[in-house]
Amino acid sequence: MTTPLELQSLAIEIAREAGALAAQRRREGVHIAATKSALADIVTDADREVEELIRDRLSTARPGDGFLGEESGEGTSTSGVTWVVDPIDGTVNYAYGIPAYAVSIAAVQGTADPAEWTALAGAVFNPAVNELFVAARGEGARLHSAIEGERRLAVAEPSPAGALIATGFGYDPATHAGDLARLSSVMPLARDIRRIGAASLDLVGVAAGRLDAYYERGLHPWDLAAGTLIVEEAGGMTGGYSGERAGREMTVAAAPEFFRRLTDLLSN
Ligand code: IPD
Ligand code: CA
Ligand code: CA
Ligand code: CA
Repeated sequence: MTTPLELQSLAIEIAREAGALAAQRRREGVHIAATKSALADIVTDADREVEELIRDRLSTARPGDGFLGEESGEGTSTSGVTWVVDPIDGTVNYAYGIPAYAVSIAAVQGTADPAEWTALAGAVFNPAVNELFVAARGEGARLHSAIEGERRLAVAEPSPAGALIATGFGYDPATHAGDLARLSSVMPLARDIRRIGAASLDLVGVAAGRLDAYYERGLHPWDLAAGTLIVEEAGGMTGGYSGERAGREMTVAAAPEFFRRLTDLLSN
């Protein structure tokens, strides 16, 4: 039996190596390899190369584990553990040179479906600012930051001035009317809105108390696996509109009381 802390150590080691590779490729110049679901939904050579490195390191260290990655799909698990990986979350930021992108690596138990898995460990590493956010189930969440130093993470309750709320908009133009309707419905609770451009960084931003809340529709398992565990281990809540787990339909993250206020608003 491997402990969540052992899985966390492996996630950290690989996320740091993968992040260094992403940053190095960024300095050398970004090449857009293809578009995916829409013209705006790009994939770069680095997305693929970084995922290959992560997959290779994981299969060497833990050959019985499954794998689910954004760029290379799924591999089966014989150990019960599956790694859910976004090699570069925030690819559009990466392509434009905005230093808000991250490697996101999580180990989950059971299936690779966010509605059913038990997340065991996660690491989100932003190499552009050298910040690493980590959690292991039952062990809390921590930040190792070149800017802030080291600290335990804890979610924040919004101030009476209103909440700083982050969100994201899907690549598919057909979803934009819904995105805008949700945005106007949450405005009464907001002091301001942030669109950071990387779901994993939105989630760990909530865990770190840098954001009061985050919500987004349309996320994939790799966008949310590490970040939702980090929020929960920082004392926050994550989920969908009304009691279900976070997933494609809706992902909300916030401190418990504000989580309930925000999901009430979003579900009406
Ligand atoms: C995207 C980012 C973005 C979110 C999209 C994701 P990618 O991931 O997290 O913030 O709005 O839904 O797909 O494609 O950059 O890994
Ligand atoms: Ca992508
Ligand atoms: Ca992503
Ligand atoms: Ca990605």
